Amino acid sequence: MKTQHEEDATALPSVLRFDAVGLNYKTRSGTTTALEGLNIDIAEAEFVSVLGPSGCGKSTLMKIASGLLPTTSGSAKLSGQVITGPNPEVGVVFQQPTLLPWKTVLENVLMPIRSLGLPQKQYRSRAMQLLDLVNLSDFANNYPYELSGGMQQRVGIARGLVHDPKVLLMDEPFAALDAMTRETMMGELQRIWMETRKSVLFITHSIPEAVFLSDRVVTLSQRPGRVIDDLRIDLPRPRQLQDMTSAEFGAHSARLRQLFVDMAKSADPQEATA
Ligand SMILES: Nc1ncnc2c1ncn2[C@@H]1O[C@H](COP(=O)(O)OP(=O)(O)O)[C@@H](O)[C@H]1O
Ligand SMILES: [Mg+2]
Repeated sequence: MKTQHEEDATALPSVLRFDAVGLNYKTRSGTTTALEGLNIDIAEAEFVSVLGPSGCGKSTLMKIASGLLPTTSGSAKLSGQVITGPNPEVGVVFQQPTLLPWKTVLENVLMPIRSLGLPQKQYRSRAMQLLDLVNLSDFANNYPYELSGGMQQRVGIARGLVHDPKVLLMDEPFAALDAMTRETMMGELQRIWMETRKSVLFITHSIPEAVFLSDRVVTLSQRPGRVIDDLRIDLPRPRQLQDMTSAEFGAHSARLRQLFVDMAKSADPQEATA
């Protein structure tokens, strides 16, 4: 399978770059190679989804980008600097929003400010603006248990953006939500991205989610994860949920689905010969 690189289609500078990244986990029974020779380049204001089968190393990629895990080989760079630890230019949103139950919504949004040692007072109005952006300004003083799953995940997004990072990393942020909420959140995230224009690395294993949201969809192989496809999605924005039934949307989805069919075949030799 060929990797389709269309890097020069964007003139914007690279913000997050993975260069020949390899990552081995040492386990009691030996070594697990999670990533191998992985190259991804994300430009300023670009929304890139990383799609891949379960266990292929997507969360590992996120941990490297957020500075929690050093690479075994190759390098991960943020604005040209090798990532060596957590960086204020990075914001993260996880699958579970993991809000602190004893803190209000506003206090939860301000958590990164506290851990980065930034002045909380100065960021309060920004946090309120972000709560407004995610349509939760009426809930600033409520507690997480008073919010639905979708609302909690919106708090998670506001928290990821509160310190105004250059890059937002999102690891399957909608995976725990029901199908209807998930679709609403796709629309919400598109709107938030169009207003903030952050570089986004969005991890998912949903093809429609990736096509709907992205400028590019990067597909990883089974473990060890490396890039097997890099697809540009040129559909105009704002994209509507009903666009998902369009011929262009269908063509992109079909191409991505085929990659997964081929991967499943190569993992199961019996099926490959059937
Ligand atoms: N801390 C760890 N120690 C050992 N192996 C790990 C660790 N974290 C992940 N792995 C292994 O690395 C591979 C990739 O994991 P992960 O990045 O979580 O995949 P994904 O997010 O794509 O499902 C998996 O085989 C997983 O079992
Ligand atoms: Mg994962």
